Amino acid sequence: MNEKIAVIGSGLIGRAWAISFARAGYAVEMTDIDPDALNQSIKALKGSLADLAKHNLLNDQDINTVAARVSPQESVAAALDGATYVQENTAEVLEIKKQVYTELDGIAGPETVIGSSTSGFMASLFTEELKGRHRCLVAHPINPPHLVPAVELCPAPWTDEAAMDTTTAIMENAGHKTIRMEKEIDGFIVNRMQIALLHEAFRLVDGGYASCEDVDRAIKDGLSHRWSFIGPFETGDLNAPNGIRDYCTKFGGLIERVGRSQTENTDFRGPLLDILEAQRRELLPADQLADRAAWRDRRLMALAVHKKHAADTLGD
Ligand SMILES: NC(=O)c1ccc[n+]([C@@H]2O[C@H](COP(=O)([O-])OP(=O)(O)OC[C@H]3O[C@@H](n4cnc5c(N)ncnc54)[C@H](O)[C@@H]3O)[C@@H](O)[C@H]2O)c1
Repeated sequence: MNEKIAVIGSGLIGRAWAISFARAGYAVEMTDIDPDALNQSIKALKGSLADLAKHNLLNDQDINTVAARVSPQESVAAALDGATYVQENTAEVLEIKKQVYTELDGIAGPETVIGSSTSGFMASLFTEELKGRHRCLVAHPINPPHLVPAVELCPAPWTDEAAMDTTTAIMENAGHKTIRMEKEIDGFIVNRMQIALLHEAFRLVDGGYASCEDVDRAIKDGLSHRWSFIGPFETGDLNAPNGIRDYCTKFGGLIERVGRSQTENTDFRGPLLDILEAQRRELLPADQLADRAAWRDRRLMALAVHKKHAADTLGD
């Protein structure tokens, strides 16, 4: 494949996107405002490729073949030269997004689509003044994108359908599952769902109903078992013999009652945070955080292998 993708910002997310695109055969030109960060990122990328190879997650390619597709570039102009798509992964600061998008829009070819990894800024907040705003959108991954397939594509009011189509095609070609949003909302979909759950977790611990370990267990040993292959609507559809209407009728009272009690935010930065931190540090001392994050990534690799096998043998 000769198509070229530019990756701007080589931190945690930029590096993971570089792996994802290179594994699919794209030539990836990666750049960073900090040359040391770029060098470190290329080294870390090779380590991740070795882990992926061990789990057979490089599509039967060897590490060097995939690594050779990623080139560090000293400037944004060099990274963008000939790129059909740009994935922006700079720091989550609105002023930086505005500056970087102004630079990218001034340099990128007229047909080049520019997607942002931003976790929370709607594209309208940092692309409104740009001449090429029609080719700008959000392509928000779930960390780390080389192991988690979903990516949210969210247009600004002025984003062309063609830019959404180009991004969808590139993402799907790289093995991603696209969530195509019709219009913008703060936090997009994934973070809105995650934050709704987080607020409930805060309320439960704050109210003294359970420890943070047990609240986590409700997800990791409970709901997540279904959620790793069906979502909340399909769960409801299958949890009553006659489908979603039956489910909403049978459990409607409970859903309404509990929902009414879930409207207030807890003060999660106050004394609750001391409780959460004390409980978490007892379960996991601070000096073990990095090792545990590496363990999480190995578990994600094992899950990716399982999900692929289960989808191939049992259907998706
Ligand atoms: N970390 C996550 O879990 C996660 C998940 C989804 C999306 N995101 C989003 O992805 C983006 C990147 O996050 P991250 O966690 O990789 O951050 P990070 O801090 O690890 O990396 C950001 C990189 O961007 C570089 N940078 C800053 N300004 C730049 C510029 N003007 N030009 C080029 N490079 C520049 C920095 O030097 C750094 O290497 C953010 O918008 C974030 O919200 C993060």
